Amino acid sequence: MRGIVVAGNWKMNRDVRAAAELLRDIASGLAAEAPHSSVTAVVCPPFPSLALASELLIGSPLRLGAQNLHFENDGAFTGEVSASMLRAAGCDFVIVGHSERRQFFHEDDAIVNRKARKALEHGLTPIICVGETLEQREAGSTEAVVRTQIHGAFEGFSREQAAAVMIAYEPVWAIGTGRTATPAQAQEVHAFIRALTSELYDSDLAAAMIIQYGGSMKPDNAFELLSQADVDGGLIGGASIIAGQFLSILASANRAALAKHQA
Ligand code: 13P
Repeated sequence: MRGIVVAGNWKMNRDVRAAAELLRDIASGLAAEAPHSSVTAVVCPPFPSLALASELLIGSPLRLGAQNLHFENDGAFTGEVSASMLRAAGCDFVIVGHSERRQFFHEDDAIVNRKARKALEHGLTPIICVGETLEQREAGSTEAVVRTQIHGAFEGFSREQAAAVMIAYEPVWAIGTGRTATPAQAQEVHAFIRALTSELYDSDLAAAMIIQYGGSMKPDNAFELLSQADVDGGLIGGASIIAGQFLSILASANRAALAKHQA
């Protein structure tokens, strides 16, 4: 049975001091209401706060992730951060190929593939982001776009590598817009992605693949989205930097996990 993974992508928000405060608030909320055994909660603060965050989170079920990495091990790549540095800073996860990186930093599927490969080499779980723009959805090409992104991201991956990856479906038109995919729209694409991973590998791998939804997931829509059969978590932007909202989404994840495990 797949679990539910809820990850907060803080994006370029919260300096070290504010990050520490937010982490304490989230961690103390989780101490009061522990996540269901099949729910994993992850925070992805900006790089400067990672090392401190991993110290603050000792003893907490909250896990740590980064928002990006470089695809080389080390060397003359000014401004970049390597997978081993993220491991040393306490990260278990790393977001790869977020649409903001594709849009503003020209990351294509080949770069996403190299980054995910490097993350895996170092024992990080890559959260590979895919999703269509509004224009692409309206043109009816959602599935074609997502298929190309998934094929590109998994290019050359062994079954073992693919099994260690997580996917986030983030329709670009739903990110930061307050416009969420309906639960039915999310479920449809998630089922499509799962079928794709089954085609590329096999049905066991597909059945175990965590596929998160991202795009204006908030306390008031999280439960319904997370209750969909193929929605295995959330990648949360805006609502993840407000402790009460993130905790409320985690409480929804607990309820959804309970319902799914009873089903
Ligand atoms: P919002 O939740 O702010 O729409 O952001 C979603 C996202 O991009 C998470 O990676």
